[in-house]
Amino acid sequence: MIRPVYIVANWKMHGLPSSSAALARSLGDAVPEHVRLVVCPPFLSVPAVHAVLTGRVDLGVQDVHWEDAGPFTGEVSAVMAAEYATWSLVGHSERRRDQGETDSIVGRKVARCLERGLRPILFLGETATQWVNGETESVVLRQLDRALEEVHDGERLRRALVLAYEPIWAVGSDDSPSPDEAAVVARALHDRLRATGRSQAGDHVPVLYGGSVDAANAAAYATHPDFDGVVVGRASLDPRQMASIIAACAVPRRSDRPT
Ligand code: PGA
Repeated sequence: MIRPVYIVANWKMHGLPSSSAALARSLGDAVPEHVRLVVCPPFLSVPAVHAVLTGRVDLGVQDVHWEDAGPFTGEVSAVMAAEYATWSLVGHSERRRDQGETDSIVGRKVARCLERGLRPILFLGETATQWVNGETESVVLRQLDRALEEVHDGERLRRALVLAYEPIWAVGSDDSPSPDEAAVVARALHDRLRATGRSQAGDHVPVLYGGSVDAANAAAYATHPDFDGVVVGRASLDPRQMASIIAACAVPRRSDRPT
């Protein structure tokens, strides 16, 4: 069985609905069979991007609220997003920082995504100080445990969850852990999922690396045995870089694990 490589393009607050649609259209042809490309435009661009996507590219949103509807001005719920998208980013460090999202809020969002049919991409990562102090594993494992506290449907979790390890100090910077350093964290996440019964022999929750991924380094993370792909921020706004990233990561990898 070929193991897919996930490439998640996080466009953050960039692009207009018209330019986002053009960017999405430009990516469709470049996606080989075993690459799962997920583009995550800003909410206002979601319908325009949805209208131009071919079957080779999945649509994701960058966030959802944890309630289905209600007096939450400016918010968008998972049930609304699910009319267009199949994925949602959850707990990105920029939202934890700027919107004050706590682990418990992140957990409610993960649970709601799963209930409403969106696959959550759960972001976990440590600060520069925590990295330097050797606290990375304890920080990301705590974030993982708290984010999954609200999830009671283990089967759905195993089928839908994707984790993204993104060191906060690597996001939007020029610095990043080496693939081998990051892989230690990926292994710790898998071990914790198994130890808590959230992943069992034969299951595989994909773990992605994110933070300063570009055409030069993407393949080293995405094809590392302990990772299943990458999250790309800045570089995902440049169609030529994206084409190079997709080509570099498109290395078929065999696996006995389910996909
Ligand atoms: P970056 O952002 O690739 O620009 O570092 C990644 C992210 O925040 O998802």
